[in-house]
Amino acid sequence: MVKIGIVGCGGIAGLHMDMLAKLKDKAEVIAVADVDEKKAADAKARMGAKYSFKDHRELLKSGVDAILCCTPTFFHTDIVVDAARAGKHVFCEKPICMSIENADKMIAESKKAKVILQVGFVRRFDDEWLKYRELIQSGAIGRPVYWRHVAGGSAPPAPWFMDEKIGGGPFVDGAVHSYDFARFTFGEAKEVCANITKFRKDRTALDSGVAVITFRSGDVQMLSWSWGLPDGCGTSGLHDTMGPGGALIFGAPEGDHTEFIISSEKEKGKTGRVKSSSLMDGFLKQTDHFIDCCAAGGKTPAVTGEDGREALRIALAILQSAKTGKPVSLK
Ligand SMILES: NC(=O)c1ccc[n+]([C@@H]2O[C@H](COP(=O)([O-])OP(=O)(O)OC[C@H]3O[C@@H](n4cnc5c(N)ncnc54)[C@H](O)[C@@H]3O)[C@@H](O)[C@H]2O)c1
Repeated sequence: MVKIGIVGCGGIAGLHMDMLAKLKDKAEVIAVADVDEKKAADAKARMGAKYSFKDHRELLKSGVDAILCCTPTFFHTDIVVDAARAGKHVFCEKPICMSIENADKMIAESKKAKVILQVGFVRRFDDEWLKYRELIQSGAIGRPVYWRHVAGGSAPPAPWFMDEKIGGGPFVDGAVHSYDFARFTFGEAKEVCANITKFRKDRTALDSGVAVITFRSGDVQMLSWSWGLPDGCGTSGLHDTMGPGGALIFGAPEGDHTEFIISSEKEKGKTGRVKSSSLMDGFLKQTDHFIDCCAAGGKTPAVTGEDGREALRIALAILQSAKTGKPVSLK
């Protein structure tokens, strides 16, 4: 039984608690910590944990084998480094942190202590996203591809998401899932070019715009993203890809599934169905994988600190390009 501690008991921690409840045969939450003592107390009651703390350093002394770091991004570094130095395995939510220097520190301390550092890129465990990757990699529409992805709405509720130092806005926070998934599917990025602005002047992070990421493979990712729309407003969730052999279109989730269309000469509009990512199965598989790696004594996970660092490098290059108006090379 892997003994788990949760640090940060807000929004995403709630989802992880649901998953851990389903995995109770192999993992037990024994301690929780949150600077907000009420949130820690509520999480303790919900999980039947033995301890709740205000300070993560106390949690690290409570007998946990591993922690889930679910605080706002800016705080990940100190918590992950303290956990590694205490010999605890770490699942760290994405983005890994806010700077390459800090990411390097987290990776180096985890390696030194021989503990796991898994970063929360849940799409790598999700059937719908894995189907997209399988179709692209099988050459269903040829290569290289141009992948368009649109996501627009208002920001997540906690104000730190739109603080440029603590959360970084959508092109650091939400879109980091896309950079990682593109790396996973296309390989390493070569160059980025972005045009990002602030629709909402009352917040420090850039909130709306476009970014184009070119990969060494020649594949191109085009993101159009906003967390600056008025409450209740949103764009479509366009997710389509063009290749020399045709187009691949993923629709919106319908109940428990998502439909996709392969519009190629060979397939002639063939449709398929895959289990929708909205079912959150990816989160269950992600947590299960982390626990298995812990139980195996620190097996290298499928998503590492280095993956977190590389996705952050793309995010920071995109912000740099937005600020300078010039393409940024990632060589
Ligand atoms: N994988 C995903 O799809 C996904 C979705 C949402 C958020 N996230 C990531 O998860 C992290 C947390 O996001 P959230 O939405 O849960 O935020 P949140 O604001 O809802 O919760 C964060 C919690 O951390 C607590 N906290 C702050 N500083 C702390 C500290 N030093 N020690 C202990 N607790 C502390 C806060 O009191 C709060 O309860 C972020 O890195 C975010 O980007 C990932």
